[in-house]
Parts: sequence; structure tokens; C-alpha cells
Amino acid sequence: MKASVIANKDYTISKIDDRVYGAFLEHLGRAIYEGIYEPDHPTADKDGMRGDVAKLVKDLNVPVVRYPGGNFVSAYNWEDGIGPREQRPTRLDLAWHTSESNAVGIHEFADWCATVGTEMMLAVNLGSRGVDEARNFLEYVNHPGGSYWSDLRIKNGRKEPWNVKMWCLGNEMDGPWQVGHKDADEYGKLAANTARAMRMFDKSLELIVCGSSNSDMASYPDWERIVLEHTYEHVDHISLHMYFANREDNTPNYLGLSEKLDTYIETVASTIKQVKAKKKSKKDVYISFDEWNVWYHSNKKDREILEGNGGWPHAPGLLEDIYNFEDVLMVGLILNTFIRRSDVVKIACIAQLVNVIAPIMTEKGGPAWAQTIYYPYYFASVFGRGTALQLVTNSPGYETTHAKNTAYVDVSGVHNEEDGTLTFFFVNRHTSESIESEVELQGFEKAEVIDHQVMTHRDLKAVNTAKAQDEVKPQKGSGAKAADGRLTVTLPPYSYQMVRVKI
Ligand code: AHR
Repeated sequence: MKASVIANKDYTISKIDDRVYGAFLEHLGRAIYEGIYEPDHPTADKDGMRGDVAKLVKDLNVPVVRYPGGNFVSAYNWEDGIGPREQRPTRLDLAWHTSESNAVGIHEFADWCATVGTEMMLAVNLGSRGVDEARNFLEYVNHPGGSYWSDLRIKNGRKEPWNVKMWCLGNEMDGPWQVGHKDADEYGKLAANTARAMRMFDKSLELIVCGSSNSDMASYPDWERIVLEHTYEHVDHISLHMYFANREDNTPNYLGLSEKLDTYIETVASTIKQVKAKKKSKKDVYISFDEWNVWYHSNKKDREILEGNGGWPHAPGLLEDIYNFEDVLMVGLILNTFIRRSDVVKIACIAQLVNVIAPIMTEKGGPAWAQTIYYPYYFASVFGRGTALQLVTNSPGYETTHAKNTAYVDVSGVHNEEDGTLTFFFVNRHTSESIESEVELQGFEKAEVIDHQVMTHRDLKAVNTAKAQDEVKPQKGSGAKAADGRLTVTLPPYSYQMVRVKI
């Protein structure tokens, strides 16, 4: 089987915003406690943050981390997480039916972000609270000093403001599971008022309004239209969330889900345009895809706690999906979609980063390791920076329940002019056939392959564990060749590959 691709230097989609390789950390399960923070761990630093986890995060070059939730934020009092630790209250977290010690709050999270070299993206509580909480939190975080909240920050040990630019106006407010859930009009008005107040403090903030929790919600896509009609002039991004699952154990269908993702982005982009036209606005609003990942492996196991039959444990193992090789392909496809839609998707956050539906797993007192999905995320984040190319791809395809025709070969291409490289990310969705792929390089001279990484496995369900950490990991490929203006590469069935070319 064969596929052909044309990559032309002048046919570009957009400069990729680095922030599409962002991540998300919520006070949920063991994401914070035993994830990033474990004071008794042998690798813990002076602040109690795990060094082994910090190293795995640093290697990913994560540009931004969204915090503190998620569903958690909708009943969170950020003030509980400041001041002397021994005086911080333990609260019941209604979202996940657990207890929250508040041992980690904004100061500890900000210090950790500095350690791992990432920017903060904060969410305000528009569920149980509103404008007042948002303006106070903003003043605490961003005002230099000489006011009640900024002076309190200084008293609590942080002299300089953190100058956080990105702020989410609540989380998934369309979801009936959310504390303080609202309809589109109610939320739209609250979000507009909150945004107005936050902008009175600082016009240059980047504000993210909640879109639907997913594209299967009954209120989708009217929710987007109504919310944007209230907020269009006051916000910069609308959030999208999507989780992927292979519940029927049907791999071809599962891997076709990226078509549904593409349609979701396309639909919201059209809604943005519709509201822009209606408002006769010159301003653009973009997409912040601030929660995405595979999530289903742990659903059954979590039922008892989430249904409220497990008491109120502190940091229990929740949403601990153990990812397999098949999920590598799905994550590769999701990231390819974001690269190809980099004209509208300017922020995206893998949900989440550690332990909770995450590329990084830890054991209490034990090791931290990379799950299978760590690798496609790593390759895209580290090497997928630059300009997305408008590739012309010709590949045989197949039908799924999501689309009439899904190409076997899915590919994205990134041109980095600064270091003179072209990077291609390929996924072969074919069950049994290798596909000979040829990329015609138009306008790129003297191409030479400088890196070729392949992920494939005889067992789609193979996983990495504490004991077998390297069961699924990339191998150096050898078959990619660049000659006479063409790159040729063989894609084995069910494989993920990255090919980098110096030009
Ligand atoms: O990431 C897990 C949860 O998924 C988040 O808390 C929520 O926003 C979404 O429903």
C-alpha cells in the first residue's frame, strides 16, 4: 500500500503557538499529593516537590500548566491554600468526594512551575463564587504591593507578583455535575462581568471563557454561541474539552475519533465566526483546548469513591488510567490535529500531567516513570515548534462510525525556520499493512534525515509499569531516506513515527 504527501514551503497553515503543548494539574486524586508533592520522597527538594517527577516534566518542555481545576475549582477557596501550612483548613472536595488538606496552594504551585520552567494558567471559581473572588485572587497574584491582597502575598513570602497572563473563567459550567452549574445565559453574563472586572485591573490579560464540556452535550453548540454573544468583546479564547475512549475494543473505530475532534474544532471555529459577524467585530477569539486525553481505563475502578461510597479520603488513587500502546497512536493523532488546526487552536492542555489520566505515573516513596503516551507528547512538544505546513496527503482510507473516510496515514508537518528543520509526525492506522509513504519536498533544498523515531508493538494492549518501565518506548528508525527532493519512509501497521529532516 502507498501514500503520497506534498510539503510546500509556501503552503502554510499558521505559526504554531507553543502553548498547544501545555498541560493541566488539578487537585484530584494523587496529581498534586504523591504526584508533584511528596515531602518524604527520597528525591524531594526543600519545598517537598519530587525531583524525579520534576525531571520528567522538564524534559517535556511544557510551556504552560493549567491549575487548580477542573471540577475542583468550582467549589475551591484559593485563600485556603495560603499562609502557614499548619493553619490551613482541611475541606471536603465535592467534585471528587475527597478531602483537601490545602498543603499545596498557589505559592507552592508557582514555585514548582518556576522549577520545571513552565508558565501558570489559572482558573477562577465561577461555580460557588464569582466576580469578587476572581478580582481578589487576581490582585493577590498580580499586583506588586500596597493593597490588601498584594500585601498579604508579600507577608506570605512572595515579594514579586507572578504576573499570570492566562485566566480561565470557571470550568465546564455547562455540566450538571459542576458545583454551581449554570445555563448558557446565566454563565455568559457572569463570565462577561468577571472578565470586565479583571480587565479593569489589567487590559492585557488573556481570558478563556468556558465552551461545552464536550461535543456530545445536549446544549452544544448553542452553548458556545450564547456564551460568546455575552462575552465576545471581553475574552480571547473559548475552551474545548474532549476525552477519548476505546470502550468497545474496536481499534480502527477508536483511531477514527480524531475525525470527531476535527469536526468539533471546525464547528466551534464557525460559531466564533458567526458571533464575530453578528457583533460586527474586528477582534478574533481563538480556541483553548484546555483538557484532552484518553480517559476510560480507570472508570470502573473509580466508581466507589466517585459515587460517594468511599468516605472522604485524602489523595486516593483516582483516574489512574494505565495507558497502552494503542493510546500512543490516539495521542499522536490528537496532536497531529492540533498542529493542523494551529490557525485556531492557540492553547491546549493534556489532561492531566501526573498520576491522574497522565503521561507520568508515580509510586508513593517509589519510582516515577513515563507512561506510553509520554512519548508522542514529548516528540510533539520538543520538536513540533515552528510553522504548520498545509500538507496535501493522498492515502487510502476506511469507514468508521465517525466519518465516511478516514485516511490510514495521518501526518502533520512542521517547518522550523530558525534551526532549518522539517519535522513530520506520522500515524499508520492500518491493522495489518505497511504503507510506503513518499513526501515530495517542494522549496526545501538539500534535505537530509537527522532523526527518525518509531513506536510500534506486537501487542496493542502493552503497557509500561513501575517494574517494566520500558515495555513501550520509541526506537531509532533506520529506513527514512531523503533524496532528489523526496522523503521516503515505510510505516508499519499500527505505528507512530517522527522523521526530522535538516534542510
Ligand atoms: O480532568 C478530569 C476532569 O474532566 C476535570 O476536572 C473536568 O474539567 C473534566 O470533566
